[in-house]
Amino acid sequence: MVQKGRKIWFDGKFAAWEEAQVHVLSHTLHYGVGVFEGIRCYKTEDGKSAVFRLKEHVDRLFDSAHIVLLEIPFSREEICAAIRKTLRANELTEGYIRPIVFLGAGEMGLFVRTNPVHVAIAVWPWGAYLGEKALRKGIRAKVSSFNRHHVNAAMSKGKVNGYYVNSVLAKWEVVKGGYDEAVLLDTEGYVAEGSGENIFMVRNGTLQTPPLTSVLPGITRDAVITIAQRLDIPVKEARFTRDELYIADEMFFTGTAAEITPVRELDDRKIGAGKPGPVTRQIQAAFFDIIRGKIPLFHHWLDRI
Ligand SMILES: Cc1ncc(COP(=O)(O)O)c(C=O)c1O
Repeated sequence: MVQKGRKIWFDGKFAAWEEAQVHVLSHTLHYGVGVFEGIRCYKTEDGKSAVFRLKEHVDRLFDSAHIVLLEIPFSREEICAAIRKTLRANELTEGYIRPIVFLGAGEMGLFVRTNPVHVAIAVWPWGAYLGEKALRKGIRAKVSSFNRHHVNAAMSKGKVNGYYVNSVLAKWEVVKGGYDEAVLLDTEGYVAEGSGENIFMVRNGTLQTPPLTSVLPGITRDAVITIAQRLDIPVKEARFTRDELYIADEMFFTGTAAEITPVRELDDRKIGAGKPGPVTRQIQAAFFDIIRGKIPLFHHWLDRI
């Protein structure tokens, strides 16, 4: 259960948590054309709080909206300010931020022109998505029988509500099977991403992640690539197959919710030593230092509240 907050920012005003409601004929509820973001804020070591890469998340929200022809009736600066204001109004110093842009009620059917575009921002406390133990010990993943969408069926540069049916089904399937997270292959059979994460592997000291062709351009993915470059770890963006993951030395997922979650087993095969490897741990440690504001070189990634 989401822990209830006090207020939700809704079209420029605050609504009480229980009162931020929509009409059943809201267009997005029927057809899925809406976009959203997942953002985190963290307590920093100076006793304050900061949003991780706020500008990049808001830019991606606008990119997603542009891709599906939604015009957000606020500027980027207004959305950034609204996110900061919502955190303050809820006195939340560490947790999750969910902006959503959706089409409201009015016309029905597939070609609509006059339905209002609504924007809401909710925040709530949310710990480790896959659990604290997952961050420390790693998880068991499984390749899903569901493929990631073909790039001409769903445009993966957008974080679009309707696309997540695919993620939900993949996640459901593997969790029901006793695993923690799903790996989705693209329509050609190459490794794409997790249900809500990007994927990395380490082999012979080189970090490798699928190119952005059929995956969401993850902001954590980008952070990991930047961190690896700083740590002189070679990085390659090139596609690979599921069996290349089986014989990888290390594997991990990245995402705002999952942060950096090591994978210790895939499809019942141990990955490397079957525990988080040295490269994963080095990158994970740097990432957690950065979000806590411990590394001045990366203070520009922190938007102070
Ligand atoms: C399908 C998918 N891939 C990757 C990611 C990781 O993106 P980010 O690191 O920006 O959260 C997410 C989460 O937003 C996602 O839903």
